[in-house]
Amino acid sequence: MGMGVGRCGGLGDCRACKAIARRPPVFCENPLDRIVAIAPRGYDNDMSQISSLFVTRLYRAALSEFGKPLDGEELHSSCLIIAQDDEAGQDWCEDNDYAGYTSYASLSDLPWRFPIFKDLVKVLDKHVAAFVKDVAFDLDGKKIKLEDIWINILPEGGIHTSHIHPHSVISGTTYVAMPKGASAIKFEDPRSAMMMAAPVRKSDAREELRSFVYVAPEVGEVLLWESWLRHEVPMNMSEGERVSVSFNYGWS
Ligand SMILES: [Fe+2]
Repeated sequence: MGMGVGRCGGLGDCRACKAIARRPPVFCENPLDRIVAIAPRGYDNDMSQISSLFVTRLYRAALSEFGKPLDGEELHSSCLIIAQDDEAGQDWCEDNDYAGYTSYASLSDLPWRFPIFKDLVKVLDKHVAAFVKDVAFDLDGKKIKLEDIWINILPEGGIHTSHIHPHSVISGTTYVAMPKGASAIKFEDPRSAMMMAAPVRKSDAREELRSFVYVAPEVGEVLLWESWLRHEVPMNMSEGERVSVSFNYGWS
């Protein structure tokens, strides 16, 4: 029997408890009441609550959502012309066994060379600003600014293996040509390295619970994510070339 509780166990039926009840209460002597007072939600509320913490945000929108739509055909033909003319880029792809073409290692001034890329960056800036707002970054007086923008052309059988974008804050891609059967982009749960002995997720698990998420954007769409999010482009099974423009934004 606890201190100050009679034979009835604190229910107030025995003489000891009735005597206690006549004393001015310092706090309730009924153990059941004390439990409720200490932990009201845990014991008297039968509504369970499950929330999502540390979420990974993925932004998807039509480029045209902000202002005048870009000329998609001009953007596509510009990508193909640049790929054809960029010998340094072609050499880099050959030296690095990159099936297809990327301007990543050879051209750092697309917006200055081609007006369509200048227009594209203006639109991307607006999408990135919207995403920055969504993820609630406190920029502390600095700005999120474009650092790199480059073209990717993946022919049939081309892949872009799993990677992150170090030294950047926000990365993304806009889709220029996605022929039927072109690869989706595959995102990986950033906690994979910590899963240890956890079972795999069910194949029909909700998207937010899956370890890998495939997103198949349409031409004219833009995807944005935080640059630490690991992603890859699985093998392009389409006979046509998959053309996209990727970019990095930094904070300075
Ligand atoms: Fe990437």
